[in-house]
Order: sequence, then C-alpha cells, then structure tokens
Amino acid sequence: MNRRNFLATALAAGSAMLTPESSAGEMSHFEPPTAAREADAVQTMTFALTINGAEHQLPETPVNTTLLDCLRDSLHLTGTKKGCGLGQCGACTVLVDGRRVKSCLCLAVMQQGKQITTIEGLGRPEGLGTPEELHPLQAAFIEHDAFQCGYCTSGQIMSGVACIHEGHAGSDDEVREWMSGNLCRCGAYTNIVAAVREVARRSASA
Ligand code: FES
Ligand code: FES
Repeated sequence: MNRRNFLATALAAGSAMLTPESSAGEMSHFEPPTAAREADAVQTMTFALTINGAEHQLPETPVNTTLLDCLRDSLHLTGTKKGCGLGQCGACTVLVDGRRVKSCLCLAVMQQGKQITTIEGLGRPEGLGTPEELHPLQAAFIEHDAFQCGYCTSGQIMSGVACIHEGHAGSDDEVREWMSGNLCRCGAYTNIVAAVREVARRSASA
C-alpha cells in the first residue's frame, strides 16, 4: 500500500466511526466496568487537624480534599486565600510544623498530628489572633503599606515569617529570592520587602 492509499483508508475508517448509526450503540462499549467505577469513587474519612493550637475534628471528608479547601470550606478559616490552586501564586501559604507550604498542594488528611498555623493564629499561636495582638510582621505590613488589594497578603505574611525564621532575610535581594514563590498582582513588592527586612533586622538585634 502506498502512502496515498494508506491515508485514504485511514480517513475512511475514521469517518465510519463518526456515523450517527454507529455512535450510540458503540459508545456503550466504552462504559467502564462496575469494579473500575467503584475503584474510582473517592473514599471519605473522619480525622482531626491541629490548627493554631486547637484541635478541629473534621466530618466525613473526601481523602482528596486539599488542606486549602479544608481550611476555607470546612473550617471557615478564610484568611488563607485561593489564587491559582496550582502551587504557582503562594496566596494559600500556611505553616506546617513551622515550614511554609502551599496548602493547595497538600492533602488535608496527610496533615494529621502536625501543627498548622494560618494567618488567623499568627498573632496569638494558642488561639485566633485579634487586631490588638498582631504578629510583628502583620504590624510591619500596615506600617509599610505593603499591600493594595490585599488578596496575596496573608500568603506573603506567612511566607515572610518563615523567611525570617529560616535566616533568609539578610538583604533585599535575599528576601526577593526566597519569597519569589509569592506573587503580588498589585506589585507591592518594594514595600513587602521593606516590611520583611525591618522585622528581620529587629529580630536579629533582639
Ligand atoms: S492557590 Fe496555592 S499557590 Fe496559588
Ligand atoms: S496586594 Fe493585591 S495581589 Fe498583592
């Protein structure tokens, strides 16, 4: 068979698959078997998470629920923001055992037994923070006007706290590098860096 004949045969076979008579009956052959459909069903389970020093019991929750959705939708801790949902913007940053993580990329069920800190618990780790009990970096963001719309701000602050704690806030360039996973569509970067640097300087001299 030469190339021309091969293409003609292939096209004819393809169009036969698309004829109305064949489509309805033949599509049923592609139904996944019952066992496969049952295997695809998402399992649920109950579990507890420790958030801002308090234990929260979750009801039956699909095991593929992200920590971000669990915080926002099940526990109504909406200070943690959902931006891209793909690990690219940093709006969802929280601390897990003191390390910053993007909560849209973590499964909630896998955080059992860990200490989770969200923006709500930052000022007063044993419970929910209040405007009178701000973390020094929260106060510095206000002093330096380090936000515009504020959507990225909780993620920036959580990331900034970890950045200082990690010892990665020794210069403006270092802060920019180590906080490059937190995007700000408003472009408040200059003031964000200034706020992080000020708190880093203060904690270094304390
Ligand atoms: S929402 Fe998690 S990184 Fe964007
Ligand atoms: S302040 Fe608007 S996205 Fe950062």
